[in-house]
Amino acid sequence: MVVSWQSVLDEISQCEKCELCRTRTHTVPGEGNYHARVMFVGEGPGADEDRMGRPFVGRAGQLLDKMIAAMGLTREEVYIANVVKCRPPQNRTPLPEETFACLPYLRAQFALIRPQIIVCLGATAAKALINPELCITRDRGVWVEKKGVWMMPTYHPAALLRDVSKKREAWEDLQLVMAKLKELENEQ
Ligand code: URA
Ligand code: SF4
Repeated sequence: MVVSWQSVLDEISQCEKCELCRTRTHTVPGEGNYHARVMFVGEGPGADEDRMGRPFVGRAGQLLDKMIAAMGLTREEVYIANVVKCRPPQNRTPLPEETFACLPYLRAQFALIRPQIIVCLGATAAKALINPELCITRDRGVWVEKKGVWMMPTYHPAALLRDVSKKREAWEDLQLVMAKLKELENEQ
């Protein structure tokens, strides 16, 4: 059953399904277009996102904005979310039980939006959504189709800030996303 946006957002705002609820300031459900053809999924809120209750608004978010713009898209026409909706302390990687507890919300968001393409930003999103054994440096840039949705694993913008030499590969991955968008448009 596909639930309503109202019920998903209400549930997230009050959620205590994992320990991350204890240390959060704000939940960060995600934001963007409810009819987006492309969704970007990161790991979890950082300090800026926890403070604002909005996804990707810090340094990595500014780079994501540039990446989206370079694709000829705007933040308003895509949807941006994270695997976990509450900030992990010290920005550590979410624990398996935290990801497990939170993933139903992201799945509900997928069901409501029904995007054609999901861009997995970094290993955490790619492992949670594609395959737990995935290795981002090895497996990025290759399409995985799941239930009619095209999934593209690529680097997280924070990884690109740490190592600018990864930007070229990330851009190649985003160009594949642009080409797929065009291809799917022509099929419609
Ligand atoms: N990093 C993420 O994975 N998500 C955000 O929302 C911000 C930074
Ligand atoms: Fe609930 Fe997800 Fe926050 Fe955990 S991270 S408390 S499951 S909303």
